[in-house]
Amino acid sequence: MTIPAAIYDQPMTRARTITATDTRTPNHVAIIMDGNGRWARKRNLPRVAGHQAGTNNLRRILRACVDQGIKILTLYAFSTENWRRPEDEVNGLMRILEAVIERELDELDRSGVQIRHIGRMERVPAGLQAKIKSAVAQTSHNDRLILNVALNYGGRAEIVDAVRAMLTEGLHPDFIDEDTISRYLYTCGLPDPDLIIRTSGEYRSSNFLIWQGAYSEFYVTDVYWPDFDESELKKAIEQFNKRDRRFGGIAK
Ligand code: FPP
Repeated sequence: MTIPAAIYDQPMTRARTITATDTRTPNHVAIIMDGNGRWARKRNLPRVAGHQAGTNNLRRILRACVDQGIKILTLYAFSTENWRRPEDEVNGLMRILEAVIERELDELDRSGVQIRHIGRMERVPAGLQAKIKSAVAQTSHNDRLILNVALNYGGRAEIVDAVRAMLTEGLHPDFIDEDTISRYLYTCGLPDPDLIIRTSGEYRSSNFLIWQGAYSEFYVTDVYWPDFDESELKKAIEQFNKRDRRFGGIAK
């Protein structure tokens, strides 16, 4: 079976799988960063101010992830459904994303963070697309922390894209199993998330990593994303450590 190197703008990832070094630390943490709007409303600020505060929160969370020994962090920045939001909010968020890449890229690179994009590039403004592509290229050699930015991402769209790619390549049905599908997802080569955190109290997956999250542990906190700090991350990891992960097996 031949697999093209760069279907999803992330060359050379299909064969590489990272393995956990410490079973007490989740290797791959994914976060649904919810509550920016409510954080802003509580302060009588526009929603975009909430997204700015949420973005400002990334630094300390990235640092905390490195300190905790987490190897992969996947952040849900913008879903395929978020285009339904008011135009000024969408445009504001795109501008914030562009500015944060410009401002933080060199330091992230120096800190050993490898930036990847998961999602569809179509509809993403051209300026932001260019920034993402150059950030991915500049940091591709880093291996301290993989930061997957889920932007214009949807779990169902991801599965549609995988099926399309498999059909385009003429894969025979007999050669398609669960591993094959995993390899055709945007997260190809990465282990599934061990822990999915959702801030601001909602108990749903919102189309985030729906294939990869099949056996992830979920942690939901009422804390709004801009207020989710190092100590909140620590609480989530402590909870994770108490879980009995059975992957369909029987209880200890
Ligand atoms: C959900 O809160 C948050 C978003 C849709 C955007 C999250 C994006 C960021 C914090 C920017 C991240 C940047 C990078 C580079 C990863 P909401 O608006 O749905 O809040 P609400 O439910 O309280 O209204």
